[in-house]
Amino acid sequence: MNSKIKAVTLSALVAVCMIAGNVLAAEGRDMGKAIAKMYLSEAGATEIQVQPAGEVGAEAPSGNKDIVLKGDAKCTACHDEADSPKVLSIGKTSHGVKGDARTPTCTSCHGESDAHIAYKGSAKPPKPDRVFGKNTATPVAERNRACLTCHKGTARTHWEGSQHQNAQVACSDCHTTHAPADKVLNKKTQREVCFACHKEQRADEHKISTHPIDAGKVACSDCHNPHGSTGPKLLKKNTVNETCFLCHAEKRGPFLWAHQPVVEECTICHTPHGSNITPLLKTRPPFMCQECHDGSHSSGTPVGPNAAGIQAGLTVAPNRNNVGGSCMNCHRQIHGSNSPAGGFLQR
Ligand code: HEC
Ligand code: HEC
Ligand code: HEC
Ligand code: HEC
Ligand code: HEC
Ligand code: HEC
Ligand code: HEC
Ligand code: HEC
Ligand code: HEC
Ligand code: HEC
Repeated sequence: MNSKIKAVTLSALVAVCMIAGNVLAAEGRDMGKAIAKMYLSEAGATEIQVQPAGEVGAEAPSGNKDIVLKGDAKCTACHDEADSPKVLSIGKTSHGVKGDARTPTCTSCHGESDAHIAYKGSAKPPKPDRVFGKNTATPVAERNRACLTCHKGTARTHWEGSQHQNAQVACSDCHTTHAPADKVLNKKTQREVCFACHKEQRADEHKISTHPIDAGKVACSDCHNPHGSTGPKLLKKNTVNETCFLCHAEKRGPFLWAHQPVVEECTICHTPHGSNITPLLKTRPPFMCQECHDGSHSSGTPVGPNAAGIQAGLTVAPNRNNVGGSCMNCHRQIHGSNSPAGGFLQR
């Protein structure tokens, strides 16, 4: 076996053992050199406990070996399990899949950072090329470029020019990279990340009528693409209605008798995030209806003068309480009707 093949075999074995070790390791236990050795013995891989210097971590400056990512030795020589915040937990994320050739290493995101690595002595080292943490001096565009080298296209086709890109929001403002769980990817925790900046939507979530966002059944990203979109307000689809139809397909029609504002835009009557008027209504009926229908029932002109008042000429005379309470007592098919006799949206 020549030495190159041996090195490859060894790194493959180490990867396998570390994955096995990960499974065995109890939740919350630190990763690192010491643990990595333990993993090897836990997995029964005693024959490769001794690492030939520099063979696995090809770029290792001083014979150190990679700990979690291929080629990380040049960084993990100093940044090990003792680091705070913990950096090695990246090995437990989808960026830590060693067997995948596309997996980044420390320098894919942070840069080669030559001056930082070369530092010796007791003073603080010069900064790495790219720092992502809070109060970093690395410009947003530069940080985002590092991520976009691998994540351009697909969901991020419209990132350039999107509201978040224009507002200097960084990928790492929403995504955490080193922690084992990225809150923004989980439906149940995603909103916490968004609410940090979007206070108005957080307030809406406490109103009487809402989408079940708090319950984790609907996420912001079910309606929005935070990476950019061709629709208004970062909506996933080109229009509000197309976005609502993703889940409320029964409101799409086609209807024999459509209600014109419904066809136009759901948000003429509804607000998506929260309202104190059930169900997610912007104003309370009958006033909502009367904003457009202020003609009399008999006028023959639904968008004419004085509707809620006198209903002379109706085949079914509505009593005043019904009218005051809700127009929908009679006009039940407010979103459109398919009954041949549903021209007044009543069945
Ligand atoms: C010779 C030891 C050494 C090596 C090698 C090293 N670092 Fe560091 N690094 C440090 C020290 C020490 C600090 C802490 C500086 C401080 O507290 O301000 C640090 C801090 C950092 C920070 C935080 C900077 C900040 O301002 O918050 C990042 C990110 C970082 N290193 C990444 C890397 C990467 C990536 C590599 C490999 C390319 C690497 N380091 C290699 C010693 C090293
Ligand atoms: C996929 C990109 C990516 C990779 C790969 C990566 N980092 Fe980071 N790193 C980040 C981001 C983003 C942060 C900011 C905190 C967070 O999101 O977890 C960060 C934070 C840090 C910090 C803490 C200081 C700070 O700025 O908050 C250190 C130290 C660090 N990384 C070192 C490393 C080392 C060492 C490796 C290789 C084992 C590595 N990073 C791999 C993206 C990456
Ligand atoms: C060298 C390439 C590379 C770089 C640089 C990179 N990633 Fe990734 N990223 C990957 C790969 C590979 C995956 C696994 C994706 C897959 O399975 O399709 C991934 C997955 C992800 C995921 C999905 C995680 C999941 O569990 O579904 C997120 C989010 C992500 N990356 C964000 C980032 C961010 C933010 C940055 C910059 C701080 C970044 N990536 C930098 C290659 C990269
Ligand atoms: C405003 C918050 C936010 C910002 C900023 C953001 N993301 Fe995301 N990202 C999300 C959310 C939410 C999801 C989950 C989307 C879903 O489930 O449909 C996600 C998913 C992902 C994924 C995994 C699924 C996929 O689309 O492939 C990757 C990779 C990713 N983001 C990369 C990035 C990169 C790169 C950037 C910076 C250019 C970035 N994100 C900026 C919120 C954000
Ligand atoms: C770091 C702060 C920050 C985070 C986190 C954040 N946003 Fe934003 N968002 C902004 C800023 C700034 C704007 C642009 C200014 C504005 O319109 O409020 C914006 C704009 C938007 C818009 C478009 C508003 C418009 O008027 O066109 C939507 C939709 C949105 N964000 C949704 C989200 C979602 C969903 C999340 C979580 C996945 C999220 N944001 C996370 C800061 C953030
Ligand atoms: C059911 C679909 C849906 C969900 C879920 C949703 N939104 Fe929206 N969002 C919309 C629609 C539709 C608009 C456009 C509102 C309008 O035109 O009145 C919008 C607008 C916005 C705006 C711009 C507000 C403005 O005044 O222009 C922000 C910011 C926003 N949403 C953030 C969020 C956040 C954060 C979440 C998660 C907590 C979220 N959205 C969940 C559908 C949704
Ligand atoms: C990701 C799926 C999804 C999308 C997209 C969606 N909704 Fe919903 N909607 C739901 C769920 C789930 C409920 C709760 C149903 C239940 O409790 O039975 C709901 C409930 C509602 C309700 C009734 C609320 C109540 O208090 O009873 C209204 C009104 C509503 N949605 C309007 C909209 C509008 C308008 C849009 C487009 C802006 C939209 N929805 C987009 C999933 C969605
Ligand atoms: C003209 C005002 C108006 C428009 C426009 C409108 N709705 Fe409604 N919607 C209502 C009223 C009023 C109710 C309550 C009905 C009731 O109490 O009988 C309602 C109830 C709902 C409900 C909960 C009850 C049910 O029927 O499932 C959903 C979901 C809903 N609307 C979705 C939509 C969607 C999606 C659109 C856009 C395609 C839309 N609405 C457009 C007035 C409207
Ligand atoms: C944004 C304006 C608007 C709102 C709000 C509105 N409508 Fe309409 N409505 C219309 C228009 C426009 C038509 C179609 C008129 C036409 O085709 O001549 C219509 C048609 C109708 C019709 C059928 C009448 C016919 O002759 O076709 C009924 C019944 C009706 N609306 C009831 C209601 C009720 C009940 C509400 C409140 C839940 C309501 N509308 C809210 C604009 C509105
Ligand atoms: C008791 C049942 C009932 C109630 C309550 C009711 N309507 Fe009607 N409405 C009808 C009937 C039945 C028609 C058909 C009229 C006809 O046959 O000439 C009608 C017709 C209409 C029309 C079609 C145009 C017209 O003037 O004939 C509109 C618009 C309308 N109603 C709006 C409303 C609004 C807005 C409210 C609430 C303020 C309301 N209705 C309350 C039963 C009712």
